[in-house]
Amino acid sequence: MNKKYHRIVFLTGAGISQESGIPTFRSETGLWNNHRVEDVATIEAFYKNPDFVHDFYNQMRKDLINKTPNPAHLALTELQKNFDGEVYIVTQNIDTLHEKANSQNILHMHGQINELVCLNCGKTHTTWGDSSSETTCPFCEREGFIKPNIVFFGEMPLYMDKIETLLKTCDLFVSIGTSGVVYPAAGFVQTAKYYGATTIEINLDMASNNFFFDKHIYGKAGLELPKFIKTLL
Ligand code: APR
Repeated sequence: MNKKYHRIVFLTGAGISQESGIPTFRSETGLWNNHRVEDVATIEAFYKNPDFVHDFYNQMRKDLINKTPNPAHLALTELQKNFDGEVYIVTQNIDTLHEKANSQNILHMHGQINELVCLNCGKTHTTWGDSSSETTCPFCEREGFIKPNIVFFGEMPLYMDKIETLLKTCDLFVSIGTSGVVYPAAGFVQTAKYYGATTIEINLDMASNNFFFDKHIYGKAGLELPKFIKTLL
């Protein structure tokens, strides 16, 4: 009989979307390959050359809009539907595959590819279309303040208060498909462990913060996660 968990937090990274055809960041064919991260994913780059950054994410929207969830995403939805407890998904990913899999309780700590934020009024709206430095905010109607709602290096990740609370109160923390090199996400396992959660890593290979995990499951998320979810139901 498995231990009965009551609140489970999953942290997902690019690896969970790899089998849906979305390249991860730190493989040799990573998303950033044809661009240096510093050119497209930093707040300085955005202020220096906003339309270059807008165009990068306009292209990424075109790349991501038709991608579909894989068995790993669907297994999380299955768990949320049938588990007698709470299941939260904290994702570093900006794709919308968890939403397309009809998962709930999703926290996009690095933002979302189909959202734009206004730096004047702070409101966000969704679009799969293009944005530019001339895009007008639908709320305050100012032009030139729209930014892709992506958390750039140098910016604070989103929902950190809520995530902190979840890490301190969960009894199972499962990290899936992340290399464990980008903070604060890479430190979440330490917080969860400190507050008494069981910590499990499901990854293609050993992540940099693997020391903090009680259990390691190595393999493709699309194969290993459905098997793991069955042990929780
Ligand atoms: N199944 C499971 N794990 C996989 C799979 C797969 N099919 N394919 C790759 N992986 C693993 C890799 O072994 C690697 O450890 O997924 C991880 C992907 O690591 P990264 O490419 O570094 O992606 P991630 O950890 O999500 O990056 C974190 O860095 O660039 C920023 O904001 C960006 O959110 C991103 C953050």
